[in-house]
Amino acid sequence: MKRRIAVFASGTGTNFEAIATAAERGELPAEVVLVVSDRPSAEVVARAARHGIPCFAFTPKAYASKADYEREIVARLDAAEVCLVCLAGYMRLVGETLLDAYGGRIINIHPSLLPAFRGAHAVEQAIEAGVKVFGVTVHEVDRSLDGGRILAQRAFEYDGSDRAEIERRIHATEYPLYVETIRRLLTE
Ligand code: GAR
Repeated sequence: MKRRIAVFASGTGTNFEAIATAAERGELPAEVVLVVSDRPSAEVVARAARHGIPCFAFTPKAYASKADYEREIVARLDAAEVCLVCLAGYMRLVGETLLDAYGGRIINIHPSLLPAFRGAHAVEQAIEAGVKVFGVTVHEVDRSLDGGRILAQRAFEYDGSDRAEIERRIHATEYPLYVETIRRLLTE
């Protein structure tokens, strides 16, 4: 049976694209039933429309507090009967309201080999540190910053500082790893 999943993203949404495409091709036992974005002008919003997937795009500043907009998100997840939330470039800390309702069912992809380089500027930090092995991590989301249980990691060697090339290789590493990890979680 197809499981109902949601993807949260703040930007371009290429990881969303990889997940939605895999689901459409039957490579995932899942259907993406909701996209959530905290930036109504983000490219991911247009991508969701192209896939015919409902999108809740909101402006955080229009709400009095994080709890207020997260209550709205929880209501939408509940209504869509979502069993797994996949953060894919969602550049906001998940708060108590969302964790209370969906804790243990939220995962994230992060562009470093955690626990190295937590936070919003992981790739920059890795380049500044002069690492020769880059990588990505899929992990559970808990109350810590990028500190939840690690579910999967993949690394690649790169001896250089061409940021565009590093980001290209990080993305190319992320797509199959995220899809494989979601598949494993939904089938185990
Ligand atoms: C991805 O590389 C993801 O790992 C990163 O944002 C990018 C989103 O790209 N996430 C973080 O940095 C979270 N701290 P995309 O919008 O093209 O999928």
